[in-house]
Amino acid sequence: MAGPKEKSVSEQISGYQATNLTWDDIAFVRQHTHLPIIVKGVQSVEDVQLCVEHGAQGVILSNHGGRQADYAPAPIDVLYELRELRPDLFSQIEVMVDGGVRTGADVVKALALGAKAVGIGRPILYANGTHGEDGVARVLQILQEEITNTMRNIGANTVDDLKPEMVGPIGPWVGRNRPSYAPNPALAQIERDIDALGQQAVQL
Ligand SMILES: Cc1cc2nc3c(=O)[nH]c(=O)nc-3n(C[C@H](O)[C@H](O)[C@H](O)COP(=O)(O)O)c2cc1C
Repeated sequence: MAGPKEKSVSEQISGYQATNLTWDDIAFVRQHTHLPIIVKGVQSVEDVQLCVEHGAQGVILSNHGGRQADYAPAPIDVLYELRELRPDLFSQIEVMVDGGVRTGADVVKALALGAKAVGIGRPILYANGTHGEDGVARVLQILQEEITNTMRNIGANTVDDLKPEMVGPIGPWVGRNRPSYAPNPALAQIERDIDALGQQAVQL
């Protein structure tokens, strides 16, 4: 056990993390490079907006593999939220995502929702650990096959053909369980009818 002056294991391994980072640090980094600045580890729509405001060119929606905070949101959910709530931000900053990307379908979903790229960590790490370079090549080959198959199955010939409408919430697209970017015309008409009835009731 760690004595009074010794650090615990978790304190030791987090010792390299800066505890005084602020949004103004992006301006500081900008003073020292002309390269694009990409902020990794963003977990909310509001923080994507702040990345835009502070002049970052890219953002990686990521919980760093979910290894520090068990209940951190899944990056694909944050991507979906961003598409739902702030689709305008996709043209103001390059959005990328990592964490939990395990299949070609995961890659296709992320691209369809508007991600420019995905990152893959542990599948590559583990393949390298057990099979070295051949293992890494095999992982990439499997992903390529799965990406091709998924795109073929949904009728997308190129990445440009991928659209948010191809990705929806979990479960059947019934009633209100639909993304707002893919409205149901029949449901919209019913809602307009209900509104109109409400207006008439108020006048009566
Ligand atoms: C062993 C290990 C160490 C990591 N160290 C860091 C780190 O120091 N800084 C960081 O931003 N992300 C770190 N990550 C997170 C990865 O950069 C990446 O976000 C994550 O692995 C992607 O998720 P995935 O492994 O589910 O594909 C680490 C991940 C692993 C597995």
